[in-house]
Amino acid sequence: MARPFVPQLDTPALVLDLDALERNLRRMADHFAAIPCSLRPHVKTHKCSTIARRQVALGAIGVTCAKLGEAEAMATGGVGDILIANQVTASGKLPRLAALASRCDLTVAIDDLANAQAIAQAAAQAGSTVGVLIEVDTGMGRCGLPPDPPQVVALARQLAHTEGLRFRGLMGYEGHTVMIEDPAEQRAKTEAAGRLLLDCAGHVRAAGLDVESVSGGGTGTYDITSALDGVTEIQAGSYCLMDARYRRVKSQFENALFLVATVVSRPAADRVILDAGMKAITHEFGLPQAIDPPGIELTHLSEEHGTCVVSGGNACPLKPGDQAWLLPTHCCTTVNLHDRYWCVRDGRLVGTWAIDARGRFD
Ligand SMILES: Cc1ncc(COP(=O)(O)O)c(C=O)c1O
Repeated sequence: MARPFVPQLDTPALVLDLDALERNLRRMADHFAAIPCSLRPHVKTHKCSTIARRQVALGAIGVTCAKLGEAEAMATGGVGDILIANQVTASGKLPRLAALASRCDLTVAIDDLANAQAIAQAAAQAGSTVGVLIEVDTGMGRCGLPPDPPQVVALARQLAHTEGLRFRGLMGYEGHTVMIEDPAEQRAKTEAAGRLLLDCAGHVRAAGLDVESVSGGGTGTYDITSALDGVTEIQAGSYCLMDARYRRVKSQFENALFLVATVVSRPAADRVILDAGMKAITHEFGLPQAIDPPGIELTHLSEEHGTCVVSGGNACPLKPGDQAWLLPTHCCTTVNLHDRYWCVRDGRLVGTWAIDARGRFD
């Protein structure tokens, strides 16, 4: 589809196609409206409380955050129920965490008793209660207890009896399966990961403790994990914006995020230089795709320049001042480079939205 020239864009501009965004939000909301499992979208993707409030209005039970700073921005932006699906351990952060728990319904991931006790102490001082989920490593090899029921039950017992904490259940993010492109392989590995988590949850319940939440899932696995009996919520994030890499796995969601750049130089017939480099768009999952106009390929990003080669010699009419549309390969890290979305509908600029959790990796 030909992308329009939008003269008002101050490039490099992070452009949000509102029609595509709304279709993505609706499609995911419809999935969860029909099943007992809930959606708790991860906001590390969009980092924008305006989008988070829309997700909640469409039925999400709250949001997932990666960082305390992100959660603070979401609470300020009006989100009332927040899971930090990550450990918060730095001593300087604990008073902030406890204070945030007075402003919203807050839950944080735990995989260490001493950390939990330090959080409980901070909560006691602040007069708040912090919800806790035990993180179980179901195969990703990042944080979490091993999927060993005795260890998980022992920690759960201690959390359930610690004042200042509210034990809510378990989480396990199957990050090792979300990008598997073969559907059968992805299903088998995702279900195996889910079974490890659910088995631990079963043991915690058998020990007499209440498990209200079993949380996991991403955009690549939301449909598989949400169908597992006993999983209560899914943390998918990228589905709202998508990117070139995730579209290979989940083509039912549309690309809603683009970077529009301006040609700054046309030094040779076969070369076009754009005003967007790696400070405007990320490349850890491969170079972004130049999608419009056709016939150019992005081959290099330096700090502030994007170098494109022209296939077909002089055929490309781009000149300084013209625009080119790029498709990110990783939406989450690209969004974090920008202060605002330039919101476009039907090729026309209709406003900007603040990326209010941008840079909140604190
Ligand atoms: C803890 C956690 N949950 C969920 C997700 C899902 O995100 P996505 O929908 O982008 O796969 C991620 C991604 O990094 C994550 O780290």
